[in-house]
Amino acid sequence: MVDFTKIIRPNILSLEPYRCARDDYKEGILLDANENTHGPALTELSLDEKNLELHRYPDPHQPELKQNIIDFRNAKPNVHLTGEGLKISNLCLGVGSDESIDMLLRCVCQPGKDKLLVCPPTYGMYSVCATMNDVELVNVPLTYPDFQADNDGIVKAVEADSNIKLIYLTSPGNPTAKLLDVDKIIDLLKRLSNNNVLVIVDEAYIDFTEIKGEHSQSMSTLVNQYENLVVLQTLSKSFGLAGIRLGITFACDGLSRYLNSMKYPYNISSLTSAVALRATSSGLESMQSAVTSINNQRVKLIEELSKIEGIGKNIGGLDSNFILMEILDKDNKPSNEVAFKLYQQLAIDEKVVVRFRGKELNCTGALRIAIGTKEENEVLIERFRAVLKGYRS
Ligand SMILES: Cc1ncc(COP(=O)(O)O)c(C=O)c1O
Repeated sequence: MVDFTKIIRPNILSLEPYRCARDDYKEGILLDANENTHGPALTELSLDEKNLELHRYPDPHQPELKQNIIDFRNAKPNVHLTGEGLKISNLCLGVGSDESIDMLLRCVCQPGKDKLLVCPPTYGMYSVCATMNDVELVNVPLTYPDFQADNDGIVKAVEADSNIKLIYLTSPGNPTAKLLDVDKIIDLLKRLSNNNVLVIVDEAYIDFTEIKGEHSQSMSTLVNQYENLVVLQTLSKSFGLAGIRLGITFACDGLSRYLNSMKYPYNISSLTSAVALRATSSGLESMQSAVTSINNQRVKLIEELSKIEGIGKNIGGLDSNFILMEILDKDNKPSNEVAFKLYQQLAIDEKVVVRFRGKELNCTGALRIAIGTKEENEVLIERFRAVLKGYRS
């Protein structure tokens, strides 16, 4: 059993969550929340907008949306699940997973004292949030070239420094596009179960990984089995809904109740939850078919790009909706100089914007390219070919 009183900050342990009258009474003439019951200041209101009652504060708890999410994840549990899967109480919703990342930091790390461990190359927001919260970063790089978690290195760092409270792993990784080995993460969870540290697995890209029969690679269903595990997901990627800002934290009840008590009560807007409800019910098929199409396009894109002189190999994995291609100099060595020049020229002259990632650890010369539609990819290939030809002639 994890002792959450030793992990969660004392001010959060004793926090009295904000309560509103509507937590107790929901029906009748509702004049309790200083809303404007004359209605929204919108000249033309569609029927859908009318039904959303936009003049009302949204539901702070979102049980229907949480039920859709757990139904979806429980339908294909992780192969390591032995007990029951997810319950509504395991979820805390955020304004994108960026809010979830920040909320975990504020829940656990005392500013100026506690530390956060990350495994570069990794997603940049962990360090931005750490800096904002005056939390020091400890780096234990992913192993190279397979981009997996270095369990021995992580355990050694945690044992040497009891101020490390959170470990952020990204699976599949960004910018690596590599799924982390689930068996290895479970080994890490077991080795750290008495260290008062939480292992957070950010699964923003998890739906792009292969589903094996009745099981998915997501570790979200395991949070009750491993109380030191926290999983983050988002509707921004596979669901194609980056604009609505919906992130999900999966945690055991011992942690989830504190996350829910500290979140701003109305952080999920009525517009967001209405769209998210549709996406996580009738939209599931569209999500799956978009994922299949993106994964097929990914194979073709790598194949075509690899034929172009000046482009090396995909140095990352095949588990996300992006690839990490090496750009080479005239001696066929990965080059940041050439990659950055190409990145800029593509964006300015050719109006094709990809991401330069060459400065990330073990990513020299790398451009990160999201998989677009078939038409977008064809234009991208053609423009890469034209620009690189100029460099080589
Ligand atoms: C690994 C990872 N986590 C989280 C996010 C942020 O997701 P959201 O849009 O839900 O804030 C991103 C966005 O690119 C990401 O790459």
